[in-house]
Amino acid sequence: MTLLVTGCAGFIGSNFVRCWLSSSNESLVNLDSLTYAGNLANLAWVKDDERHIFVRGDIRDQLLVSRLLEKYQPRAIVNFAAESHVDRSIRGPGDFIETNVVGTLNLLECVRTYWADLPEQQSAFRFLHISTDEVYGSLATTDASFEEGNAFRPNSPYSASKAASDHLVRAWHHTYGLPALTINCSNNYGPYQFPEKLIPLVIVNALANKALPIYGDGKQIRDWLYVEDHCRAICRVLQEGRVGETYNVGGKSEKTNIEVVTLICSILDELRPRADGISYAKQISFVKDRSGHDRRYAINTGKIENELGWKPDETFNSGIRKTVQWYLDNKTWVEAVASGAYREWMDKHYGN
Ligand code: NAD
Ligand code: TYD
Repeated sequence: MTLLVTGCAGFIGSNFVRCWLSSSNESLVNLDSLTYAGNLANLAWVKDDERHIFVRGDIRDQLLVSRLLEKYQPRAIVNFAAESHVDRSIRGPGDFIETNVVGTLNLLECVRTYWADLPEQQSAFRFLHISTDEVYGSLATTDASFEEGNAFRPNSPYSASKAASDHLVRAWHHTYGLPALTINCSNNYGPYQFPEKLIPLVIVNALANKALPIYGDGKQIRDWLYVEDHCRAICRVLQEGRVGETYNVGGKSEKTNIEVVTLICSILDELRPRADGISYAKQISFVKDRSGHDRRYAINTGKIENELGWKPDETFNSGIRKTVQWYLDNKTWVEAVASGAYREWMDKHYGN
């Protein structure tokens, strides 16, 4: 048995590969185009594991996706591949529409043809789409948290592109009967996250004696989820989720950005004090706010808890400490990513 997984050279996907292979003998075919966010060093530990088959390619490539489905006959597809950073989507939305919308459409169409020809296993097949809570828009502090039935009100080009892809997945289930499911997840953090997102950016900048930029007043709220908890939720939904359903996944850890950054600084003060003895908090710098910045995200996890028995294991305090420690322990990874050197090996082996 095999899974076709897309985008697993990125942050969540690479953590999923580790989580999956440590608890299953089923192999994974990993289709990833290796954009700036794809890094094969994230998968160094599976280098010699024949259960992980890496294919460099684009989810928009109809011929390639169809060939992989034919060749490996997967029993499921998990779609992580995406352009994932809000700030980049504001600067240049085109790639987000291309990968997140057109790419998802191509996967759905290729899978629909493949799935229609499956002899007996049609109903056992799964198309699991990984998406974000940002599709629901922004909450006020007094609002309740996001529930699965909430209307979509995406505010950034990123969230609009993910919302479009979620709608396509829903329609392909509704119209063609494709056994599809979607996860809408809150902000993840943990090992191997590219240092453009808040948490790794702050850790890496702090250690490099650079400014720690806080957008606007820093009182925006995110519901932080440790990536391994998300990966366990993905396994659970893949195995036991009801087709046609969406599941919200979150960490029950609402924090303002300034709380997050201050906590990271205090952990670093303890684990790797600055040479001058001054707190890393000194490096905090309030900067111009992000355009259209969503104020608050928060997830109601009642559905996945009640139906599938999943809940997060990590608190924010335990998860953030592990994360800071991981970045301290993985200096080579950090330096290669921060300097751009991580591209060299991949470009040499796979072309650029
Ligand atoms: P990431 O940016 O770290 O990784 C994305 C991966 O997709 C990279 O390896 C990249 O090379 C690959 N990719 C991009 N375009 C591709 C294409 N056209 N064809 C093939 N591969 C392509 O992203 P992430 O943070 O790991 O997020 C994974 C998924 O989870 C995304 O769909 C994202 O929307 C969703 N998500 C992320 C978060 C989060 O906090 N990071 C939260 C909720 C949902
Ligand atoms: P980010 O990690 O980019 O995730 P998202 O935009 O998908 O929530 O940002 C998390 C929060 O941190 C968000 O409110 C924007 C804020 N932020 C900063 O204040 N400074 C930064 O340098 C970055 C990257 C984000």
